[in-house]
Amino acid sequence: MEDPLKQSFLSEIGQVSSLQELLNIKARYIGKKGLLTEKIKGLGNLSTEDRKFYGKYYNELKNFIEELLKTKESELKQREIEHSLRKDIIDITLPGKDYYFGGCHPVNKTLIEIIKIFQELGFTVEEGPEVELDYYNFEALNIPKNHPARDMQDTFYVSEEVVLRTHTSPVQVRVMEKKKPPLRFISPGKVYRCDSDVTHTPMFHQVEGLMVDEDVSFSHLKGVLVYFLERLFGENTPVRFRPSFFPFTEPSTEIDIGCIICGAKGCRVCKGTGWLEVLGAGMVHPNVFRFAGYPEGKYTGFAFGMGVERLTMLKYGIDDIRLFFENDIRFLRQF
Ligand code: PHE
Repeated sequence: MEDPLKQSFLSEIGQVSSLQELLNIKARYIGKKGLLTEKIKGLGNLSTEDRKFYGKYYNELKNFIEELLKTKESELKQREIEHSLRKDIIDITLPGKDYYFGGCHPVNKTLIEIIKIFQELGFTVEEGPEVELDYYNFEALNIPKNHPARDMQDTFYVSEEVVLRTHTSPVQVRVMEKKKPPLRFISPGKVYRCDSDVTHTPMFHQVEGLMVDEDVSFSHLKGVLVYFLERLFGENTPVRFRPSFFPFTEPSTEIDIGCIICGAKGCRVCKGTGWLEVLGAGMVHPNVFRFAGYPEGKYTGFAFGMGVERLTMLKYGIDDIRLFFENDIRFLRQF
């Protein structure tokens, strides 16, 4: 006849479904006051012969129960792991999120190209502050207070004497104050004007250039700038010089290239003229040398300035300047 204790244990363990239940069963049978424990404690009351027989039997039953509890425990733990794995399932068949690579910003691309061309011509790169004194932005460039030329650019004033620079030309004076000719440098950077539409943003980039020595002439200006434009826009790009006015250069010129959008036939971008303005330039005005502290009449030089966004728009046929500042990856990835 099977032992009822063993029977009930086997039937309980057969139905167990959680670790907590298993612990309860363990306590009920082999815990301090467990059913089997009590039987073992009661062995002392038996006759020597029975004690020998039941002692052996209960010991074997205890080992059997412990063994089974252990097996069941690892089974339940395994089942728990499988359950949580199934519950926290990751559906690896769902398409993941794509990471898109950007590209070098087109304005930066043009800037890098411009710098490279001038470095090959022996120009160095200088920098100046974006928050600038009125003195360097205007005064020292031969634009006194109340001069009508101040209206050429809509200025952001920080205070009476401090502005966000409206062009990179103040770097001309800052460098000349510190260095003696021969000078040959460009100065790229951000400039600010209170202006915003399809072709203007309140912040944009310019590259300034200055070459000063004892015998720099207008033909040097022409040679350097025509070479530069042919490098940037292609060898047979038509270039023309128009007389113009800047307070800090005399004579002054604006330089056009044949419209690359329509092949100089006349279109919306060149307003039907076939020409696009790309550079302002001129021979450094004697007053600017005076402000820089150079001896009277000793040096001559030429200066030029260009807008990098504008050049980039022309180079890549982009018709809205605001695209540069929207950070749309679909736009940026094209470069
Ligand atoms: N600073 C001028 C501008 O912003 C450009 C320029 C630079 C013209 C140097 C002549 C010489 O329009």
